[in-house]
Amino acid sequence: MTDSHPQGKHLGIVVGGSLSQGVEVRLDPSAPVEEMALGQHVVIQGQSRRFFGVITDITLESSDDTLKASPPDLSNPLIARVVSSTAVYATLHVLPMLTLEGALALVEGPKPAKTVPPHFSPAYLASEEDVQMVFGAEDQRHFWLGTPLDMETRVCLNLEEFVQRSNGVFGKSGTGKTFLTRLLLVGILQKSAAVNLVFDMQSEYGWQGYREGGGWVKGLKQLFPSQVAVFSLDEEHCRKRGISPDYLVRVGYNQIEPEDVAMLRETLNLSEGRAS
Ligand SMILES: Nc1ncnc2c1ncn2[C@@H]1O[C@H](COP(=O)(O)OP(=O)(O)OP(=O)(O)O)[C@@H](O)[C@H]1O
Ligand SMILES: [Mg+2]
Repeated sequence: MTDSHPQGKHLGIVVGGSLSQGVEVRLDPSAPVEEMALGQHVVIQGQSRRFFGVITDITLESSDDTLKASPPDLSNPLIARVVSSTAVYATLHVLPMLTLEGALALVEGPKPAKTVPPHFSPAYLASEEDVQMVFGAEDQRHFWLGTPLDMETRVCLNLEEFVQRSNGVFGKSGTGKTFLTRLLLVGILQKSAAVNLVFDMQSEYGWQGYREGGGWVKGLKQLFPSQVAVFSLDEEHCRKRGISPDYLVRVGYNQIEPEDVAMLRETLNLSEGRAS
């Protein structure tokens, strides 16, 4: 396949791996392992298609196990150079996510990767053009969500397609789930792609959200006052925060079933009821 756009930085070649575990790319000595990072986008040029993947792991390897037991004398620059160019190397584990197949990719867009590139296929860091080809350029339908690691390129999301599916934002604690979700809701509101009902258990989306390290970020009501209605069950909590909700919701005693109380038994510290 001929390249229709410039390649990113050359990383190395594919030396093994699998579709489920990801392919192994032996890193070129010219690409410093420290500059590789988990989650970076990588493009692998197969014979008839390009593979678009992410780095899922980075390992340090040596071709000679005795190096682990008795490391060489690296104070000698010649030995250091020989060892670092031949005996030790790093492997990137790249999970192929999408394939771009020749000229068809321009029309059909990327498809889920169902195969892997062959041995010795060259791997590159994804270029701005690669990222744009996968995520689309910012326009009326594509919402700019952020940038990939170590890149300035805009990652965009087609919100019309996004709202047609069920979506989840997953991640370890403190990795930015709430911020990303807030951005997604902003995008959906801005493009009027859909209407959302948000159960805002920790009051992060309605009026304002907390930023770690201090400060607040605007919530949806502040950004789109006429398009967002905030409902609250807790008037006092709102007053403490200096916020007036659009609607106060009151749950009548006649609307509470025994099952609702049973569910809250631990929270309300109630003793176990006797089944009769
Ligand atoms: N897109 C972003 N722009 C700027 N700062 C961000 C962004 N995403 C995350 N942060 C910073 O990281 C902190 C943690 O993000 P966030 O609260 O979204 O994480 P979380 O995954 O929802 O955490 P938790 O699991 O505790 O709910 C934020 O308080 C903010 O300081
Ligand atoms: Mg959160």
